[in-house]
Amino acid sequence: MSIDFKVVTRAAEMRQAIVHAQQAGKAVGLVPTMGALHGGHLSLVDASLAECDRTVVTIFVNPTQFGPGEDFDHYPRTMEQDLAQLRERGCWMVFAPTVEEMYPAGHETIVDVGSIRKPLEGVARPRHFFGVATVVLKLLNMVPADRAYFGQKDYQQTLVVRKLASDLNVPTEICVCPIVREADGMAMSSRNAYLSPSGRRQALALSQSLELAKEMFTAGETDVARLHAKMLESIQAVGGVEVEYIAFVAAGTVDLVQQIEGPTMIVLAGRVENTRLLDNCQIGF
Ligand code: PAJ
Repeated sequence: MSIDFKVVTRAAEMRQAIVHAQQAGKAVGLVPTMGALHGGHLSLVDASLAECDRTVVTIFVNPTQFGPGEDFDHYPRTMEQDLAQLRERGCWMVFAPTVEEMYPAGHETIVDVGSIRKPLEGVARPRHFFGVATVVLKLLNMVPADRAYFGQKDYQQTLVVRKLASDLNVPTEICVCPIVREADGMAMSSRNAYLSPSGRRQALALSQSLELAKEMFTAGETDVARLHAKMLESIQAVGGVEVEYIAFVAAGTVDLVQQIEGPTMIVLAGRVENTRLLDNCQIGF
């Protein structure tokens, strides 16, 4: 497997390799990441390896999706380790452009997917989804794959990506894979590395609150206000977690619901030791 493995930093070279592979009848899968790879990222790589002939992973810590004072400068960068893991798994190419390659002087175009970028993450991070949508569209153009893989962990991001692909006629099929969790239930995230052992224990309250809501729903509770209150109470009982939002939205949308009457996503964000953590789950299938 390792014979073919290649790291590319130039968009033109990347695009040419993809077109070449596709002309040879190979289906190409793309996994966009910001690196510091963990089991969540690797599950996307595995899905691509299973479904496509060639898998390309992009590693690019995208400055435009970080706000002022956020963790762009400190974001974990573990390129050598990442490359070793991808090579070993059977990945074909890694695209790791520089900031200058991605955003040459004079770059001005911004992709705005409209209303779905505004609530939830958009409240605390008003420009975040401009950065995500713009870089994802650029990556889809630079690596014009047959399929591209994203994680359900970033629920609103999956909606943003689906919307830009649909509105802008991107031919790549957008695939969304389930959340990968640690043994204790905490969603894997590159940012978990920021947490101290005690912060890590406190952060578990987030995924546990989702489990609590699932149990209450299974026992017959459909009132969102009551589910919300119990979740908040359970998180506050642990302490150390500042809840930014817990939202109940109709699955596939960012529209708030008051009663669970159909497929519903519970989406939350919380801060532990100044690290923002996201999690979500679906109820009412
Ligand atoms: P990053 O946070 O590195 O995540 C890359 C991909 O891995 C995303 O699709 C994300 O949803 C997925 N992922 C992260 N944790 C996961 C988990 N525990 N289980 C399953 N999938 C998980 O998301 C980004 O990078 C960037 O915004 C990007 C799309 C690359 C654009 O810059």
